[in-house]
Amino acid sequence: MASNTASPDVALVQKDAHPFERAQLEGLMTKRFFYTQAFEIYGGVAGLYDYGPSGAALQANLINFWRTHFIIEEDMLELDTTIMTLSDVLKTSGHVEKFADYMVKDTKTGDIYRADHMIENVLEARLQGDKEARGKERGAAEPEVAPAAADKKSKKKAKSQAIKLDDAVVDEYTKTLAMLDDFSGAQLAELIQKHDLRAPATNNEVTKPVEFNLMFESSIGPTGQTKGFLRPETAQGHFVNFERLLDFNNGRVPFASAQIGKSFRNEISPRAGLLRVREFTMAEIEHFLDPEKKQHPRFKEVEHLTLPFLDKHVQMSGNTTIVKMTLGEAVRSGKVDNETLGYFLGRIYLFLEAIGIDLERLRFRQHMDNEMAHYASDCWDAEIHTSYGWIECVGSADRSAFDLTMHSKRTKHDLVVQEALKEPKVYQKYLATMNKKVLGPAFKKDAKGIEDAILALSQDQLKTLMHDLDAGSAHVELNGAKIPVNKEHVTVEYKTIKESVRTFVPNVIEPSFGIGRIFYALLEHAFWARAEDKDRGVLSLPPLVAPFKVLIVPISNNEQLSPLAKEVSHRLRKMGIASRIDDSSATIGRRYARNDELGTPFACTIDFATVAKGTITLRERDTTSQRIGKIDQIISVLKQICDGSLDWKGACQILPEYTGTQDVEDS
Ligand code: ATP
Ligand code: GLY
Repeated sequence: MASNTASPDVALVQKDAHPFERAQLEGLMTKRFFYTQAFEIYGGVAGLYDYGPSGAALQANLINFWRTHFIIEEDMLELDTTIMTLSDVLKTSGHVEKFADYMVKDTKTGDIYRADHMIENVLEARLQGDKEARGKERGAAEPEVAPAAADKKSKKKAKSQAIKLDDAVVDEYTKTLAMLDDFSGAQLAELIQKHDLRAPATNNEVTKPVEFNLMFESSIGPTGQTKGFLRPETAQGHFVNFERLLDFNNGRVPFASAQIGKSFRNEISPRAGLLRVREFTMAEIEHFLDPEKKQHPRFKEVEHLTLPFLDKHVQMSGNTTIVKMTLGEAVRSGKVDNETLGYFLGRIYLFLEAIGIDLERLRFRQHMDNEMAHYASDCWDAEIHTSYGWIECVGSADRSAFDLTMHSKRTKHDLVVQEALKEPKVYQKYLATMNKKVLGPAFKKDAKGIEDAILALSQDQLKTLMHDLDAGSAHVELNGAKIPVNKEHVTVEYKTIKESVRTFVPNVIEPSFGIGRIFYALLEHAFWARAEDKDRGVLSLPPLVAPFKVLIVPISNNEQLSPLAKEVSHRLRKMGIASRIDDSSATIGRRYARNDELGTPFACTIDFATVAKGTITLRERDTTSQRIGKIDQIISVLKQICDGSLDWKGACQILPEYTGTQDVEDS
């Protein structure tokens, strides 16, 4: 039997021999049909993409793992709610009024830009020009400025010119870039004017920023009377079903609902591939909890994790320095508001690690106060660094009680939790009772308004009303007018209340994942080219998410090999391991290279030893090293690797190195 030699270490493979080139990865994406622009043969539409077999499989694997890691592991309640959403729902949630970005127009060509992206683009180009000018002064070439937050690198990117700026201007631009996400429309307009910022592609002036709502509007039914929108997030589907979810969970919080599905945003100017699209898959969790109990029973499991944080105070000081600290410290020091938010940041970190994101290119950035969505009270984005800069891939917002409160008010459904108190709560309170039989005839159409005005009074105001009623001088304010009322209409009493139930609107912590952004960032992190040949691209995707796990290659088209290849493929597929046979006439090296581009981690080669002795060689993608074993043994190793119970190092302990000549004992 051949001896086991030391395993070739995957970690030692040289992956940085060639600098990353986005065009090369994009070429591979098209060639191996990961994704392509939608309606390509009609000229394509910006911001819409179709996924091919490799991309669809990779995306499905990401989603499957997301379901396992979050829904199953955390016992969440899964939903699948409609994409077409009643406009009333989105009015109530604030999206109709506020779900907008600012856009500007090139005054001559009419080209449209998202205002903040254009500003960033131009300021970055000026800073780059300054670096080049300073480099020239010193007689040395300066490296490119690392792009800051956001997509924005595009065909319409501003070109840098080697022009030196004052130190104070460099400082101002740098600070502005760090705080850009926090600026209002008026502030963006001021920046454009102050720094004479112009359209990147033409240097023409641009118009004042105007708001553009990102939702796609539609109508439901043939008469078009019922207005709707394609949902911009899946979250509202959770909130409108809250009563049923609560009932499903026996009336108790905390619990989380989860949903994976498409959302739509009519992005102003999508120029960053999959990172900014108009139709995308989201995976969202709404964790409903008691606002007085934001601890998490499983926080202990993640508190030791060290995460890279960029908090709002650092950004507001014009800085982007990352601070690493454990989640335990972050929550104890108040940087992260509560254990539940911290728990989810930890789980997100573990998810991203497992799918193969480079953790050195990950940061958790807190939203600055103005940047926060209209519904959020705190928010941390998991941002991943790509060739487009830092990209928000998962937003984790504390939506407090915003959505449930708004939907309750609008629908008159009490979206609340009722909790039996161990000790009844006894207290005194002023209570108003309307005498509707008198109120109605006395005030006619104003009766309802008067009743609502009384019900909205504070305790102090009710106390005053009680005294005024006793004195016969009471009135209620309605639309600015003082309407006299008396004890016939309403009475106010100071009563002892005994409560045995506590009623509250739950708060919501919401981790919201953009699957397409994670998908693209992962591809960038996984891509490299072999040191010996720049054109040989490899995608080092972990077996967990790789579109296909095993390539099966018969060494030739000899008819004895084909049934064996089919048998191995059949056995693997029966175990749920996606495998593909490549029995094309290409050389074996070519076939391996093709599958390196697909990110297939392993290849089984069927040769004449398979026919004679029942052995197969197993090739690992990154190291290209090969081991050998009997069919059963190889299949068992592959199964363990794919279910995560064995790694390649472990496999090398089981399978001897392939030398080309050895026999293998039965295991
Ligand atoms: P951005 O500031 O980049 O426009 P956002 O703050 O609007 O993003 P959220 O509203 O927090 O993003 O959306 C939640 C998640 O949905 C994001 O973290 C991101 O992963 C994803 N997402 C949002 N917009 C898009 C888009 N146009 N294309 C792809 N994914 C998106
Ligand atoms: N549901 C969160 C978002 O769309 O931002």
